[in-house]
Amino acid sequence: MYGRALSCALLSPTTRCTIPQLIRYFARTAAAGAQQDVTTAQLPEISQYFQKALPHQEVYDLSLNNPSAFWGSLARTRLSWYRDFDDVIDCDMTKAKLKWFINGKLNVSVNCVDRHYMKTPDKVAIIWEKDEPGQQENVSYKQLYEMMNQLANTLKSHGVRRGDRVCIYMPMTPLAVAAMLACARIGAIHSVVFAGFSADALTSRINDAKAETVITADQVLRGGKAIDLKSTVDRAVLDCPCVRQVFVAQRTGAPVSMGQMDMPLESEMAKQSTECEPEVMGSEDYLFMLYTSGSTGQPKGIAHTQAGYLLYAAITHQTVFDYREGDIYACVADIGWITGHTYVLYGPLCNGATTVLFESIPTYPDPGRYWEMVERLRVNQFYGSPTAIRLLLKYGDSWVTRYDRSSLRVLGTVGEPINTEAWEWYHNVVGNGKCDIVDTWWQTETGGICIAPRPSRVAAPIIPGAAMRPMFGIAPAIVCPDSGKEFTGNDVYGALCIKLPWPGMARTIYGHHNRYVDTYFKPFQGYYFTGDGAHRDKDGYIHITGASAFDEWTTVLFNSRRRHRLGTAEIEDSMDEHGGSDVAWAPAGCAGIPHPVKGEGVYAFVTLMEDVQKDTDEIITELKSMVKKQIGSFAAPECIQITPGLPKTRSGKIMRRILRKIAANRGDELGDVSTLADPSVVPMLIANHAPIE
Ligand code: WT7
Repeated sequence: MYGRALSCALLSPTTRCTIPQLIRYFARTAAAGAQQDVTTAQLPEISQYFQKALPHQEVYDLSLNNPSAFWGSLARTRLSWYRDFDDVIDCDMTKAKLKWFINGKLNVSVNCVDRHYMKTPDKVAIIWEKDEPGQQENVSYKQLYEMMNQLANTLKSHGVRRGDRVCIYMPMTPLAVAAMLACARIGAIHSVVFAGFSADALTSRINDAKAETVITADQVLRGGKAIDLKSTVDRAVLDCPCVRQVFVAQRTGAPVSMGQMDMPLESEMAKQSTECEPEVMGSEDYLFMLYTSGSTGQPKGIAHTQAGYLLYAAITHQTVFDYREGDIYACVADIGWITGHTYVLYGPLCNGATTVLFESIPTYPDPGRYWEMVERLRVNQFYGSPTAIRLLLKYGDSWVTRYDRSSLRVLGTVGEPINTEAWEWYHNVVGNGKCDIVDTWWQTETGGICIAPRPSRVAAPIIPGAAMRPMFGIAPAIVCPDSGKEFTGNDVYGALCIKLPWPGMARTIYGHHNRYVDTYFKPFQGYYFTGDGAHRDKDGYIHITGASAFDEWTTVLFNSRRRHRLGTAEIEDSMDEHGGSDVAWAPAGCAGIPHPVKGEGVYAFVTLMEDVQKDTDEIITELKSMVKKQIGSFAAPECIQITPGLPKTRSGKIMRRILRKIAANRGDELGDVSTLADPSVVPMLIANHAPIE
């Protein structure tokens, strides 16, 4: 293992490619579509592994012990470059200095589209699974290439330049994918905003990114319902002085009002050539930014760069899902989330895959939709969310078993922990007991999957509901939240950190680098802090215990219903805002609790002032409505327990660990409570546990 401050210049000059060689290579690769080695620096072992030969542990160890060789070799064999990189890694996590593939030049859209277009122009790149079942449309690599280039030329001819931010607020259509790739082609930075966000949310994201261009559509179709997008954009841009143009695509053909800034996208594209010279980008230039909510509520524009992100996306897509040439791969996430970026678009397209673009919802027209699609399209890998699985299992097995799912090999989930019941159902009913179930842990910030049961070709048992094994290059650390020291042994609980840099990690919060450093690199010196808690079990496998699982930490709750990440502090604050003279309570703390549908719900403990006369039910209703008003109804606590006392240490700190156990109705697992100032509050709290609504 090497130190945390890295500066590796592994490749000796003799193994480096000359630029003409690379250009020739690139031309040859493009022409022949061949994925050939560029240099002798490539380690044969790695390619052997990918052809099944080497045990996973050996390759994993290599990825940690010699990351320069590992990633350098993969970058050269898996990506096409205009110019080879000089060094592989130049990182110092203590300063959030994160650079990979130094001075390399490439274009992401060329890697995702041109290479495959040259080799197999008619291969299907995207199966557009439209909202209405049975209406799917295939988009070949050639069609995608042309669409992307026309869109890139449209943007260029309207003054969009390298480094400019383009906001994409679109339905799940091939045009949306083409828009993202068109940005990559010309070096613009895309910022996709989920087409379900409100005008206000859109305004703040456009302004934070200072985007001058917005790409949208007339409407979005979801579950048979058409929802206006253009009118939302109209309202949003009223407060966005930076915006100078809005391109409007047609999804439903509904009439929209076109103002001075607005341009019809398709007719602008029709004027353009289907060839667009790709911009030569540096490895560390920004590819995109994507907003995620933080514990303070101010959304963060997480920024990813070109080479490292793309390579990490491609390698994890291949290995976690056992992707093989010819497979039909379906990740049903929306492109408005990182899952859509990495595992609908960049990873699969970089690998030349056929990727499904799912426009609908799991219950339209009925709860058999996913599995009917699996049968119709002969899907080999299916990647979804635990929430959807939990929802569908309630409708019963027959919605699944009536369809032929024999094509399926790997079933994945992401976003939150998957409970045993849902895991078993996914495994036994959906997968017929024959598929690998991969519970994948990662974050917007990590760029790609970091912990997953195994690379699919490794024969090793999978524990239900555990993310288990770190991916290549990922060195997880379980850190004591109090001392900041890493726990070295097994069977330990703590803050989940990552102690070595990896190529897919975010580089900054766009425009707020200090906030990036403070949030992820300051809490535990020298580590990337994920904000999650984890348990490393006695066998060394990692279980994500959720965002709020360790003591005394400002936590982040993940609410899957609206996919909001919320800080418990944010909810506590909103209940504290009561102010004025009639303050009746002191919010003690919130804890995440397992919730049957939402995944994680909120349980709040509140103490009343001594002389409060109000009725408890009234207070509870009032508290809930305060949270609804200030944050949104999705954040309202499921349960509020009014309590006369709280578990405090002698120094006056609330022991959140105890609140969490009590909230989860696991009062029998409290462990040592002897450090409490007054342990007698514990039985009182247990006895008054509030039922979950
Ligand atoms: C947070 C990241 C990565 C795409 C979807 C969400 C939670 C994610 C798991 C999992 C338990 C998980 C974590 C993480 N999370 N995957 N397999 N098991 N928790 O992206 O919005 O950036 O949220 O989702 O709390 O930090 P995101």
